[in-house]
Amino acid sequence: MRLTGVGVGPGDPGLVTMAAFEEIRSAMVVFAPSLAAAAVGRAETVVAKLVPSITCHRVVFPMGRGRPGVEARRAAAAEAAEQMAGVMIEGGRYAFVTLGDPTLYSTFSLVAEYAKLRLPKLEIAVIPGVMAFQRLLALSTANFLDNDEPLHLVLGIGSDQELERAIGDRNAGVVIYKVGSALPRIKELAREFGRSADAVAGWLLGTEEETVMPLPLVPDEVPYLATVAIRPTREPD
Ligand SMILES: C[S@@+](CC[C@H](N)C(=O)[O-])C[C@H]1O[C@@H](n2cnc3c(N)ncnc32)[C@H](O)[C@@H]1O
Repeated sequence: MRLTGVGVGPGDPGLVTMAAFEEIRSAMVVFAPSLAAAAVGRAETVVAKLVPSITCHRVVFPMGRGRPGVEARRAAAAEAAEQMAGVMIEGGRYAFVTLGDPTLYSTFSLVAEYAKLRLPKLEIAVIPGVMAFQRLLALSTANFLDNDEPLHLVLGIGSDQELERAIGDRNAGVVIYKVGSALPRIKELAREFGRSADAVAGWLLGTEEETVMPLPLVPDEVPYLATVAIRPTREPD
């Protein structure tokens, strides 16, 4: 019995890999996370566009932040694993679709952990997906990192210190996920460190509502699915 976390990219079915497509098509059941039983999750939307004949099995997964959020997510993952275990049979192949890549900030890691506890013989596999930030870079630059330039991947909902350290490292590229209410602070730090001209933000990437703009022009409130990218500061030759 195998459960595969399948990354379906940021939203555009054209950005789904062949490996992901094949796994989705051949799975006995495709599980998809959603916020409520009646709500169609983003990953499910990608599957529906890709293979309209497939009906995903929804796994309700509330989102949240902070302590109660972590506990609620753990409880939801345990409940999801229980639901999935009730569907899975010996020898079957199952797919769990997630936005972007399953190994990064994805519901899959937690669900896989609990599914494995519930079904110790379960094999866990992953098919990588195109991440949202890659879509943003593709739309905004042909040269994000070069030579020995490092990359910081940080969270807007993380600590202010981390954010400041990442943006303050002018020779590094910065990607910011889970931007949330930190957007005004991100803009302020980019200004402070002279990086505004190298910074872009994109939201709902890969969907019909995809928007990309220079960071200084971005409104202070953007959807949850928003990403910021800042290129390393390069001195002219
Ligand atoms: C729970 S994480 C999921 C990350 C995902 N596993 C990935 O590999 O891209 C959610 C965060 O990813 C980013 N994100 C995911 N999909 C996005 C999209 N379509 N457009 C913009 N940002 C996106 C946002 O920063 C969002 O807050």
